[in-house]
Amino acid sequence: HRHLLGTEGLTPAEIGYLLDLAENYAVQDPRAHQHSPLLSGHTVINLFFETSTRTRTSFELAAKRLSADVINMSVAWSSIKKGETLIDTAMTLNAMHPDVLIVRHPDSGAVKLLSEKVHCSVINAGDGSHEHPTQALLDALTIRRRKGKLAGLTVAICGDIMHSRVARSNLHLLTTMGARVRVIAPPTLMPSGIERLGVEAYMDMRAGLRDVDIVMMLRLQTERMQGSYVPSIREYFRFYGLDRDKLAMAKPDALIMHPGPMNRGVEIDSEVADDIDRSLIQEQVEMGVAVRMACLEALTADLRAGDPRVPAEG
Ligand code: CP
Repeated sequence: HRHLLGTEGLTPAEIGYLLDLAENYAVQDPRAHQHSPLLSGHTVINLFFETSTRTRTSFELAAKRLSADVINMSVAWSSIKKGETLIDTAMTLNAMHPDVLIVRHPDSGAVKLLSEKVHCSVINAGDGSHEHPTQALLDALTIRRRKGKLAGLTVAICGDIMHSRVARSNLHLLTTMGARVRVIAPPTLMPSGIERLGVEAYMDMRAGLRDVDIVMMLRLQTERMQGSYVPSIREYFRFYGLDRDKLAMAKPDALIMHPGPMNRGVEIDSEVADDIDRSLIQEQVEMGVAVRMACLEALTADLRAGDPRVPAEG
């Protein structure tokens, strides 16, 4: 079975293929997909060990628009609360013969481990501070639609780089596609040696934002900071919060992104977050559905070949 566990190692051709597929879904009226028979008779299970608003609902919508049967498992309502392990939970779901398992887990590497045990395709919906590949794909689609390209753009990813799976997936994807990536963070939230991944590291936000095309803000992930230094909110906003003043360092047509959930007044000021001309935040959410439809389509292509459950296309 084919999995999507990360953007690291994906080729430019694979990324381009997924983005082109997603573009087809993005340009159409979403209501037109209600009856796409592509995944008719197939089962998709959302298995979320962490909270989610955007990722879980957009995977559910994507699967439903392709006519799959969709099950949503939330840890709060599952037998994990009674002590069942990750692997036992996965094997239980595996016994129901799903075609795709979409998994979010607080531990880096947990989704890969699970993919080695089950007999279906697995999509990583975020594992710890490791990867969140569909987020990077939807970010790339959003950028490509607005700027017409990825290669040659300068993208600044700002904030809690240390704990961010969104930063990791984005920097792999964007550098693979020929964009220049800068990461901006306070020293305590900057992973050491990150330059080895082909990015430029800045501790000073104004210097890092100079002449960039895209400013991508990240949330302070305090839930992953147990035992380590947590910055004071007021100090953090002063030095690393995006406001009009700091944004003025970027190109005049620079666009603002945030994967959500957003903490207004912490990493981003409402004035820039809600700027209808420059903020792509709502568009990112919209592209999430298109990208997840594309990923479901691509991962199940082998499965659907010659499958009598699926009506012939055309
Ligand atoms: N961007 C993102 O993954 O949001 P959720 O945590 O709401 O899914």
